[in-house]
Amino acid sequence: MTDPFPTRGARIDDLLELVHDVRKSLLARDESPAGNWVEQTAEDLRSGAAHGWYYPPGPSAGLAFYSTSGPDAYGHVHVREAEGAVDRAEQLTDVLVSDLPSRVRTASIGFTGLSPAHEEELVLRLSGRPGATIIERMGMERSLGADDGQPPGPVPDGLKLIPIRDVTVDALADLDMRSVRGSSDALLIGNRIEEYRRVTAALREGSLGRFLEEASTALYRPEPPHLVGAILSAERSPRKGIFVSFMVDPEFRRRGYGRFLFRWGLRALWALGYEKVHLWVTSSNEPALRLYREFRLEPIARSTIYRVTRAGEPPQPHSDR
Ligand SMILES: CC(C)(COP(=O)(O)OP(=O)(O)OC[C@H]1O[C@@H](n2cnc3c(N)ncnc32)[C@H](O)[C@@H]1OP(=O)(O)O)[C@@H](O)C(=O)NCCC(=O)NCCS
Repeated sequence: MTDPFPTRGARIDDLLELVHDVRKSLLARDESPAGNWVEQTAEDLRSGAAHGWYYPPGPSAGLAFYSTSGPDAYGHVHVREAEGAVDRAEQLTDVLVSDLPSRVRTASIGFTGLSPAHEEELVLRLSGRPGATIIERMGMERSLGADDGQPPGPVPDGLKLIPIRDVTVDALADLDMRSVRGSSDALLIGNRIEEYRRVTAALREGSLGRFLEEASTALYRPEPPHLVGAILSAERSPRKGIFVSFMVDPEFRRRGYGRFLFRWGLRALWALGYEKVHLWVTSSNEPALRLYREFRLEPIARSTIYRVTRAGEPPQPHSDR
């Protein structure tokens, strides 16, 4: 198999076609970047502002690219499903990882294009590499119905529900970081508060779909003041809402606050006229999964993240496999 070509200086039409393919695959599993992502990504890859490699459009097409944020890198590998697809995906992954600047300590890489069986085969190959952790994620959803229109019940004692616009990005980012500490989700975002701020700000600006203020809220304890939990929603499509963030402070868990927020969120989406609710969850997140099963969400999609930690990093919390 030939080596992939660097995307820098490649024909923009080829890159646009390849990035479109990625977007199509992401859309198929209800995960799609918003706005002019295709054009911007293709242009960044062509100009060298972003790093990438490709196999030209056609039956053996493929594309890999990454961006960095401090010591963390976020990458994506896409191949067209055909003979040799697993080899191409592996090759693109290897090129990507070997190109990472030396200051990068961790890289999280997602995949699209492979059939489930081929993705499994790739994961098997990659999981044996030094510093590898495999994180499985599940897309879940269900239809909203009249039951979801019922009031969510009284706000838990001593707490207040506050509009999300009254909560700063900093406070939400801090809650998010505390909420996922020690879990696979923490591996996905890392352990730097700046990264949580960046992700939270991006969500509110619509990175995963138009942010729905009316279907997002926070639970707040006024005395002494403390942000206890939050649920954030976005519009996935005109018919479908998605919960993009849902968390309860670890010190306030197992008191029914999560269930209350979830019910509140379902009712808000239903009241806005959405017909379905969607979300992504890490397969090892048993507390959240139990809650989602209670609310009858069904798994409808899967995705794998290959995380590489370079030598010198402390041991990681846990692996999903
Ligand atoms: C998921 C989360 C929001 C639940 O918050 P919570 O306030 O503790 O949830 P509740 O007290 O309302 O629990 C509701 C149900 O969820 C399940 N659950 C919650 N915590 C659980 C745990 N540690 N183990 C097993 N089941 C658990 C149970 O079925 C529970 O019902 P029960 O207490 O009657 O048995 C919270 O654990 C959290 O913030 N986790 C980190 C962030 C996260 O993973 N968010 C989801 C991203 S997809």
